[in-house]
Amino acid sequence: MLSLFAPPRIRRAKSINADRIKPFSISGSVEGHLEGMAESQNQSQHGMWSSGALFVLAAVGSAVGLGNIWKFPYITGENGGGAFLLVYLICICLIGFPVMMAEIMLGKQGRMSPINSVLKLAHENNRSSKWSLIGWAGMVGGIIILSFYAVIAGWISAYIYQLFSGAFQGADGGATGEAFKKFTDSPAQVLLWFTLFMAVTIFVVARGVNKGLEIAIRICMPLIFVLLLVMLVYGILQGGFWDGFKYMFHVDFSKLKLNGLLVAMGHAFFTLSIGMGAIMAYGAYMPQRESVKSAVSVIVIVDTLVALVAGLAIFSIVYAHGMSPSDGPGLLFVTAPVAFGNLPLGSIFGGLFFLFVAFAAFTSAISLTEPAIAYFVEEMNARRWVVALVIGAITWVLGVGSVFSFNLWSDFQPIFGWTIFDIFDKLTQWFFLPLGGLAIAVFVGFFLPWQKVWDYLEIKSQWARYVWVALISVVAPISILVVFALTIVQHFAGG
Ligand code: PFF
Repeated sequence: MLSLFAPPRIRRAKSINADRIKPFSISGSVEGHLEGMAESQNQSQHGMWSSGALFVLAAVGSAVGLGNIWKFPYITGENGGGAFLLVYLICICLIGFPVMMAEIMLGKQGRMSPINSVLKLAHENNRSSKWSLIGWAGMVGGIIILSFYAVIAGWISAYIYQLFSGAFQGADGGATGEAFKKFTDSPAQVLLWFTLFMAVTIFVVARGVNKGLEIAIRICMPLIFVLLLVMLVYGILQGGFWDGFKYMFHVDFSKLKLNGLLVAMGHAFFTLSIGMGAIMAYGAYMPQRESVKSAVSVIVIVDTLVALVAGLAIFSIVYAHGMSPSDGPGLLFVTAPVAFGNLPLGSIFGGLFFLFVAFAAFTSAISLTEPAIAYFVEEMNARRWVVALVIGAITWVLGVGSVFSFNLWSDFQPIFGWTIFDIFDKLTQWFFLPLGGLAIAVFVGFFLPWQKVWDYLEIKSQWARYVWVALISVVAPISILVVFALTIVQHFAGG
C-alpha cells in the first residue's frame, strides 16, 4: 500500500529531530544520484548538488527570474530610472552581498532546512532557540511569494502559446497593451495558466531537486541571456537604445521619491532570493569544498547583469515605439511582443523568449518551496511528495486571491488602495525579506563568534575580515533600519 511516510531507511530523519543539535546527523538521501553516498558529517539528508558548479547554477537559477526580467524594468520605470538604479546597486553591494554570504554559510554549516539549521547553530553557540524564527518567517514568506509569483509565471506561460501562434505579428504598443488587458481581465484564463504552472512546479519539486532540474538550469540560463540580447539588438536597431540607456543611467535624484529607497532595498532582497531561507536551503546542499564567497560573487554578478540587460532591452523598445516606461506590471507583456512581433521569425524567437522566462521563473519557484518542504520532511517524517502536495495546495488557495486581483476582485482593496496581489507583493518584499535579512545579519554579526565565521567563510586576510565584520554587523543592519525609519516617517508623519 502507498505510504504517506518515508520508508524506514529515510525515517531515520526522526533521529535528526530528536538530537538535531548534534553536529551533522545524517539519514537517508532522497536524491537518486546520491544513493550509496557515504555518510559523512558534511551531507544533507535531502541530497547534495552534484558539484560546486551546479550549486552556483542552481543558486543563479533561484536568483535570476521574474524579478530580473519582469519586475526590475517596471519598478525602475515607476521610480524614475537612473537614481533608482544607483540606489538599487548600492543595496546589492552593501546589503545583498554580505547577507547572501551569511545566509548560504548558515545553510552550509547547518545542512538542514533553514529552521533547523539556524536552530542547530544557535544551540551549538549557546544562543536562544528563538533565532529559528528566521526560518519560520522565511518559510511563510516563501509560500506567500510563490502564491503571486506563480500567477505572473502563468501569464508568461500563456504568452509562450500566444507568441508561437503568431498573435502579435506586426503589432504596435497599443495592440499589445489591449491584448494584455483582455488576457488579465479573464479570470478563467489567468486561473488556468496559474494552476498549470503550479502543477508543474509541484510535480518537479515533489520528485526532488534532481538531475533533470540541474540540466534544465544548465541549458536555460545561457539561452535566456542570448534571447535578451536579441531583444536588446532589436531595440538598438529600432533607434530607441540611447533614450533607453539615458533613462536607465542618467541619475536625477529629483525623480526618486523616498518610497523608492524601500522599493530598491526590497527588490535587492527579492532578486537575490535572500532574507527568507531559499538560498540557505540551497546552501545546505552545497558541496563542502565549494567556497561561499566565490559562489556569491558569481551569483550577484550574473543576477545584476541579467537585470541590466533586460532593463536596457525593454527601455530601448519603449522609446523606439513611443510607449511609457512606467507601465507597471504589464510592461514586459506590452514591450516584448512588439519587438518579436516585428522581427523576422519573431513568433519563433518570441515564443522561445517567453519559454525561457518561464524556465527562469520555474527555477526560482522551486527554490521558494524548498525551506518548507525540507522542514516538514525533517519534522514529520512524511514523504517528500506528500509534503509538496500539501504546500502546493496551500499556495494555490492563496494564489487565487492574486489571480482575481486583476479582474473579479480588482476593486477589493482593503488597505492603502492595494489589491490582494499588491498586499502579498509589498508585504513580502518590503517587510518579510528585509526583516529576515536584518535578523540574519544580526545573528551572524553579533551572536556567532567572529573567528568561527571567518573560518567558515574562509576569509583569511586581516583587512578582509574587518571589512566583512563591518558589512555584516554595521553597514547592512543600519542601512536596513535607516530605510525603514525613513519610510515610516514618510508614511505616518507625512514627512
Ligand atoms: N529571485 C527571484 C527572482 O528574481 O525572480 C525570486 C525569488 C526566488 C525571491 C526565491 C525569493 C526567493 F526566495
